[in-house]
Amino acid sequence: MSESWDIVPIVDEGSLDVLVEINNQSFTHPWTRGMFLEELKQPEKSYLLAAVTTNGVIAGYCSVWSIVDHLQINSVAVCLKYRGRGVGLALLNTVVDLGGATGRREYSIRGAEIECGGQSVVSAASI
Ligand SMILES: CC(C)(COP(=O)(O)OP(=O)(O)OC[C@H]1O[C@@H](n2cnc3c(N)ncnc32)[C@H](O)[C@@H]1OP(=O)(O)O)[C@@H](O)C(=O)NCCC(=O)NCCS
Repeated sequence: MSESWDIVPIVDEGSLDVLVEINNQSFTHPWTRGMFLEELKQPEKSYLLAAVTTNGVIAGYCSVWSIVDHLQINSVAVCLKYRGRGVGLALLNTVVDLGGATGRREYSIRGAEIECGGQSVVSAASI
């Protein structure tokens, strides 16, 4: 049976510790809690999307900025335990949906943070 993930916007501080933990597992230079807090203060520009399991566990997240006419993907990361199960793809497909809904159908990716796995998941999402 295929798994499903709810993709929901993060709008309050309650989930930030989990995002920091996923970041620490995923990046050499992870974002801090303070950096995520700054994102929450800019809802007109910054989208933080979480992939949530049916049990309410945050399995991964994606940070996206709306920049004039396009969406910039800052980072996408999945908890080690949930990798390889379609979470990253589900997050990026939601970014594509967001682009369609907001009329921003072009995407950029912060190059310095994209590693091999990022490129693969991005191409799987047809971005
Ligand atoms: C990259 C990452 C987000 C992928 O998340 P995931 O949930 O494991 O990916 P999915 O299960 O949705 O896989 C989607 C596709 O990407 C491919 N893929 C996933 N991780 C990969 C990796 N490390 N290397 C190569 N391909 C990878 C999968 O094979 C799949 O392709 P397919 O549909 O053709 O089989 C996750 O490995 C991660 O958090 N990595 C550390 C952080 C990172 O590098 N983020 C990207 C840069 S910001």
